[in-house]
Amino acid sequence: MKIAVGFDHGGITLRDVVIQSLTELGHDIVDFGTADSQSVDYPEYAARVAHAVASGQCNRGVLACGTGIGMSIAANKVQGCYAALIADCFSARMAAEHNAANVVCLGGRVIGPELARKILAVYLQSQPDNSGRHQLRREIICRMEKDCFSGAEPGN
Ligand code: RB5
Repeated sequence: MKIAVGFDHGGITLRDVVIQSLTELGHDIVDFGTADSQSVDYPEYAARVAHAVASGQCNRGVLACGTGIGMSIAANKVQGCYAALIADCFSARMAAEHNAANVVCLGGRVIGPELARKILAVYLQSQPDNSGRHQLRREIICRMEKDCFSGAEPGN
């Protein structure tokens, strides 16, 4: 797959392991920066990765900031981006299987490189569960999203 990656200065500690892990797993990387520890604004990087995934330019995205929280909040403001903040392997599998998350957000001040490596492997090797209830729940989210971006009254 083609995977978009983005980092801020708080997530930069995970940059090398993210790029190395994805490469070892056989994926192509589209790197949206940042590349060093100079302070930057995480929403800019979240937006770049989220748009790349939502537009179909990339199949998946990986973002990292200090906690992963800011990246996930910002990425989820882009229609078609379903970003999950992940700090354990069980959630990594669930994010793929139940939520069909297309972007994973990691916290460089929360998890270490080896856990990040395992999370990415589990997430990318797990497939969305398209059986009834999970698919239905994702469709509800898609309807909410359409309301949100069209400006219509929620639920109508
Ligand atoms: C930057 O200091 C920090 O706020 C950022 O990396 C991230 O953790 C935000 O959620």
